[in-house]
Amino acid sequence: MRVDVITIFPDYFAPLGLSLVGKARGAGVVDLEVHDLRTWTSDVHRTVDDTPYGGGPGMVMRPEPWGQALDAVGPGTLIVPSPVGKPFTQADAYDLAGLDHLIFACGRYEGIDQRVIDDAAARMPVREISLGDYVLFGGEVAVIVIMEAVTRLLPGVLGNASSLDEESHSAGLLEAPVYTKPAAWRDRDVPAVLRSGDHGRIARWRRDQALLRTAARRPDMMAAYPPASLDKADRKT
Ligand code: ADE
Repeated sequence: MRVDVITIFPDYFAPLGLSLVGKARGAGVVDLEVHDLRTWTSDVHRTVDDTPYGGGPGMVMRPEPWGQALDAVGPGTLIVPSPVGKPFTQADAYDLAGLDHLIFACGRYEGIDQRVIDDAAARMPVREISLGDYVLFGGEVAVIVIMEAVTRLLPGVLGNASSLDEESHSAGLLEAPVYTKPAAWRDRDVPAVLRSGDHGRIARWRRDQALLRTAARRPDMMAAYPPASLDKADRKT
């Protein structure tokens, strides 16, 4: 997968050289390049923003550098992280993981001149994506989050791909709590069922915990869970 990130803060992306995303880049699974938007400015001050038409606080990113940057790295699927975007989900991560070329446009200030997005949309698919109902300083952190969610879905990145099938947000339920050694710690024991060796009972316990957690923490997910996916024992939970 080819990934181009356009930003006025290239240094923000150092974390994408670490951990499993860094490893995926080293292995050639992800070919990621970060570009400084100011490369595409032509004035001595390398200006990327100006005051908003119609008035109001803050600054808006000017269209000219963005137009040139997108002409240079595109076409691809343009992703614009923004608090006005569609909320990002695991299904979106799977979607993006199936694409060949992602281009991330990191807005700052009050955002990017709308014509940049409209102009790009005439030539390539555009998705405005929000991380959640809160406002960040800019799109940089959102790109790191999205890239981490996408990279771990790419073939060969996770050692044990079957762990993807059962994790939270894949099966429509939150995952059960997890434990490791020691069996007793600060007077707290690992649930006996997990040490029983009885795989049927363990699976049932995990399923019950997943249902209870999801119902308590995410009533929205529980309501969306297809009744046909519930078995008889689930209904008792
Ligand atoms: N940029 C600013 N706020 C954001 C958010 N909530 N999600 C994605 N990008 C953003």
